[in-house]
Parts: sequence; structure tokens; C-alpha cells
Amino acid sequence: MRARRALLYMPGDDLYKINKAATLGVDTICMDMEDGVAINRKEAARVTIAHSLRTIDFGATEKLARINPVGSGLEELDLAAVLPARPDGIVVPKVHSAAQLHWVDQQIAQVENSMNIPPRTIGLIAIIESAAAIINIKEIAASTGRLQAFIFGAEDLAGDIGATRTREAWEVFYARSAVVTCAAAFRIQAIDMVFIDFRDNEGLRKEALEGARLGFSGKQIIHPDQVDVVQQAFTPTDEAVDHALRLIEAFQIYQQSGQGAFAINGKMIDAPLIRAAENTLARARAAGKLPDPAAEP
Ligand code: COA
Ligand code: MG
Repeated sequence: MRARRALLYMPGDDLYKINKAATLGVDTICMDMEDGVAINRKEAARVTIAHSLRTIDFGATEKLARINPVGSGLEELDLAAVLPARPDGIVVPKVHSAAQLHWVDQQIAQVENSMNIPPRTIGLIAIIESAAAIINIKEIAASTGRLQAFIFGAEDLAGDIGATRTREAWEVFYARSAVVTCAAAFRIQAIDMVFIDFRDNEGLRKEALEGARLGFSGKQIIHPDQVDVVQQAFTPTDEAVDHALRLIEAFQIYQQSGQGAFAINGKMIDAPLIRAAENTLARARAAGKLPDPAAEP
């Protein structure tokens, strides 16, 4: 699956920011029609996103569009406006149930069919940001094979459960962990919460690294200054890659000599650590840092 280390939002009615986003070298952008857009600007956002998808060269950057929640009364017009302009994927906020995602999947399938493009060309990403979503997360994950990732929405989740957001984020930790764990079980990506204090890059770096350690493959961002910090945090360092390669090599040699566990630098190494090393290499490949064996002839 493609790397989504950073997923940058901008209001869908702001053509200036969309144009700027195309120049930033960010893995993914998400043009918003939901909470970043005023209610009297929804139609402007639809028109601007469709126009941008048709006219702007985004290079290697993935282009997503975030619709309004299923049941808001806005979602049909959102999809009708942007799907024919061929976004790479649709982001669905405030998903509570499998049925909501199933409905979006059907809408996309109809457009793919009528445009004669292969099924599941257009991806689907769900934002998990309510107590109900956490309760139903397994069914949501299983609702459609089109689903490529979960996004964790900490601000909405905190509002829904009556929590007060803090820097440490313990108030949302159960949900944050549920999202990353369930995503892993269904072999989809998990994209971590937004760090809203966009002038504090040191705080951002810490939170991004924490997300990477928890197992997230990327993070939502809201400002150009956050791109490099976050993309770096989700790219394994040279040392981490070297270490992973060494572990895997040693593991293979010890396996042949009949030894499952062994020691390197005073630390016990066995199969779970090898899986972690393989995850590190997979992240490095997704970030273009190592050649992808699947891409070789
Ligand atoms: N995408 C693309 N470009 C952006 C951007 C974004 N999300 N946020 C800011 N920029 C641009 C600005 O237009 C400005 O461009 P310029 O230097 O060419 O004039 C530059 O980056 C610096 O912006 P800055 O002045 O520091 O910020 P701001 O006050 O213009 O904007 C926000 C602050 C928070 C309003 C803005 O970052 C934003 O709209 N973020 C996304 C909000 C969103 O989509 N929320 C919903 C999802 S959580
Ligand atoms: Mg939200």
C-alpha cells in the first residue's frame, strides 16, 4: 500500500491552499468539504475540489476528498460533485456503523462502473472519532474491501465522550489504541490524530514519533510547516534500517543452526523482534528508502 506518512488537510473552497499543497512533496492531501468549510461554502468547496482535481498537477501526491458525514444530508451532493473528477480516494468522517461505509462504497462503485474504470480504483478511508465507532469498529473494518485506512480523530472523540483534550492525550488513549489495533487486524493503515498547535514543531515531532511507536503509519496535518517533521518521523532512520537488516540476517543464520533465541549487544532477540524489524523495513520501502522487492522483475 502507498505511504501516507503525512495527510495534509485544507479547506476545499480554498484554491490557493490546494495549489500550494501540490508543491509541498507531501504524501497525501485531503481537500475538505466537512468541518473545515463553513456551511454556506459547501457548494463552493465541491466546485473548487472538482476543478482542482481536473486541472492541477499534483505529481506523486495522493489526492483525497473528505465528504460530509453520511446522514448529514450533504453527502450525496458531495460525492456527486467530486467522484467524476477522479480523486484517489474518499475520506468519510464520523463513521458510526458499517452500513454508512457500505453505502459510500456502493456510490463509488456506481460511478466507477458508469465511467468504465476498474472496480476499487477509488479508495475509501474512514475516520473513527466517536464512542459508537469504537464499539462498532470491527464491523466498520469489515464493511468493504475498498477500505484502505482508518484515521483517528481525537478532537471529535474527546467531545463525544466528554473528555478534555490534553497534551499527553491519555483521555483518548484507549480509542487511539483501538484504531491502530483493529487496523492491523484487518491489514489496513492507521493514521494518527492532528496536532493542532501548528507553531510548535518540537511538540509535533514528539507526538508523531509516539504515533509511529504505537504502530500508526502516518499522521494527519493541517499546515505546510508540519509536512517535513511528520514525514521524517514516519520514515525509519538509517540506523534503524541497518539494525533491522542485521537482526534479520543474524536470525536466519541462528535459525539454520537450530537456535530460536539469541543475543545481540546484551539483548535477547527472537521471532517477535524479527517481525518488528520486518515492519521497519516495510516502512522504509513505503517511504522509498529501500528498494521494493515486489517491484523488481
Ligand atoms: N494547506 C496548504 N497551504 C496552507 C495550509 C494548508 N492546510 N495552511 C496554510 N497554508 C499556506 C498559507 O496559505 C500560507 O501561504 P503563503 O505563505 O503562500 O501566503 C502559508 O501556508 C503559511 O500559512 P500561515 O499564515 O502560517 O497560516 P494561516 O494563518 O494562513 O492558516 C490555518 C492557518 C490553520 C487556518 C490553515 O493552516 C488551515 O486552513 N489549515 C487546515 C484547516 C483544515 O482543513 N481543517 C479541517 C481538517 S482538521
Ligand atoms: Mg472530525
